[in-house]
Amino acid sequence: MIECKNVSKVYIGDVPALENVSFKIKEKEFISIIGSSGAGKSTLARLLHAEEKPTSGEIIFNDENIAEFKKKKIWQHRRDVGMVFQDFKLLPKKNVFENVAFAMEVSGKSDKEIAEDVPKILEIVGLAGLEDKYPNQISGGEQQRVSIARALVNRPKVLIADEPTGNLDPDSSWSVLESLIKINKYGTTIILATHDREAVDKLDKRVIVLEDGKIISDKETGKYDLNNKK
Ligand SMILES: Nc1ncnc2c1ncn2[C@@H]1O[C@H](COP(=O)(O)OP(=O)(O)OP(=O)(O)O)[C@@H](O)[C@H]1O
Ligand SMILES: [Mg+2]
Repeated sequence: MIECKNVSKVYIGDVPALENVSFKIKEKEFISIIGSSGAGKSTLARLLHAEEKPTSGEIIFNDENIAEFKKKKIWQHRRDVGMVFQDFKLLPKKNVFENVAFAMEVSGKSDKEIAEDVPKILEIVGLAGLEDKYPNQISGGEQQRVSIARALVNRPKVLIADEPTGNLDPDSSWSVLESLIKINKYGTTIILATHDREAVDKLDKRVIVLEDGKIISDKETGKYDLNNKK
């Protein structure tokens, strides 16, 4: 479904942020990209989301090279591939329901669709009952799940989450990861970029380890070995 072929990214005049990165992601897979700060996780996430282009190499999504996409195709691509960030920005004057509904309005959905879909999406991310709360009335983990709900309104085939638990305590982090697991079970491919080794260990899914822009390990399943990272 997604294939990176010898992808490198060099920001102007600098050492490569990514160097010859190659891997394939199957449909409906849940994959974590782990690595320390500066390893290239966010760069890879942005390339997959078509926010930036690789310096060399190809990124194939459903048989097309997204590095060659022009504006219109990029917009289409971002409907297929949603993104969630660490610093989720919710609209403070809109409640939970309205924050998700607003994302649907922006993408041209009808009132009927909004009335039907928002409760379903909020149920999936475990926020049923919090519809009327404002962002400052809910926890960080709940806020992050609103931002995940928002990313789901276009029913993306793939959801990229870049450090979605970065600012959260362990319990809240786990509630966010549980939501991602559930979304994955419903059929969405999940790409999780994180430096949280314990979370990845707990997930027990495929893990790619990035170090200085290179893949140093890619394991199909099994736990990330905390004592021996290779
Ligand atoms: N816009 C940019 N311009 C120049 N260099 C950049 C840019 N973005 C990232 N870099 C560099 O590319 C390398 C990889 O950065 P990246 O943000 O992808 O790492 P990361 O794994 O996401 O790190 P973190 O865990 O801190 O978020 C780093 O050396 C970084 O300084
Ligand atoms: Mg990052």
